[in-house]
Amino acid sequence: MAGSGQPGPLLFILWALVTVARPSSGNLGDGGWQQSRQWSAAAVMEQRCTVERRADLTYAEFMQHYAFLRPVILQGLTDNSRFRALCSREKLLASFGSNVIRLSTANTYSYQKVDLPFQEYVEQLLYPQDPTSLGNDTLYFFGDNNFTEWAPLFQHYSPPPFRLLGTTPAYSFGIGGAGSGVPFHWHGPGFSEVIYGRKHWFLYPPEKIPEFHPNKTTLAWLQDTYPSMASSARPLECTIQAGEVLYFPDRWWHATLNLDTSVFISTFLG
Ligand SMILES: *[C@@H]1O[C@H](CO)[C@@H](O)[C@H](O)[C@H]1NC(C)=O
Ligand SMILES: *[C@@H]1O[C@H](CO)[C@@H](O)[C@H](O)[C@H]1NC(C)=O
Ligand SMILES: *[C@@H]1O[C@H](CO)[C@@H](O)[C@H](O)[C@H]1NC(C)=O
Repeated sequence: MAGSGQPGPLLFILWALVTVARPSSGNLGDGGWQQSRQWSAAAVMEQRCTVERRADLTYAEFMQHYAFLRPVILQGLTDNSRFRALCSREKLLASFGSNVIRLSTANTYSYQKVDLPFQEYVEQLLYPQDPTSLGNDTLYFFGDNNFTEWAPLFQHYSPPPFRLLGTTPAYSFGIGGAGSGVPFHWHGPGFSEVIYGRKHWFLYPPEKIPEFHPNKTTLAWLQDTYPSMASSARPLECTIQAGEVLYFPDRWWHATLNLDTSVFISTFLG
């Protein structure tokens, strides 16, 4: 089988969580989030990109080439520097540390929800992901946001300006540790912007059902399944950098993997 029998260096470095002097992601700073160990596999992941990047895309181009056809990474559409500044570790803890947030398990069908003060999540659960843990045993802050309590933050976010007829935008804000992420699932179309850190995405069109176990993490899938896949069977993938926005069309399968502690906000078009 093409692509199998040579797991390559990726498999081995994936396991290594090392202290690497990686000062920050790009030129947007790290907001104080990358204070723990960095993940050596991130540099390898970052090299692989099969999703188009487009700067200053017009709405007409978006509708014609991407909206119903394929994912795209959008650059330069909005300036969220104010929002980014408010999302530093220090600022978020000062404003929302005592707020109770709702965590989901990081599996495909997130069955379980856990309520916890935001500060406790940041200080105790935001460690790099253990590759052997199961998605259904891993808690992740993504969505289930209380828009009343967090309004002072969300009012500063400028979503991508593109809309699809008949849809209403809904935000989903989250923070995940290095190596965390949600395994393959699908829903309606939307955008996902990285505020701090880097987030790697894997995507398949609706008709191409990926091979995955719904309770395994993306990291486990990357280590156990990805290396033996024929290159033609591999998903589209790319690392989204801070300040970039990924657009994913309706019902596209996707899995995410945070390469750093990542702060991100999605705009779902439901
Ligand atoms: C998580 O999933 C595994 C495999 O599907 C299962 O054996 C285990 O009991 C689940 N853990 C929890 C806490 O539900
Ligand atoms: C996944 O884990 C849940 C509990 O967390 C369990 O009920 C379910 O059966 C597991 N699914 C599979 C396919 O093992
Ligand atoms: C959101 O927060 C407000 C204010 O603390 C609270 O009254 C409300 O019940 C919360 N909503 C949800 C859905 O948790």
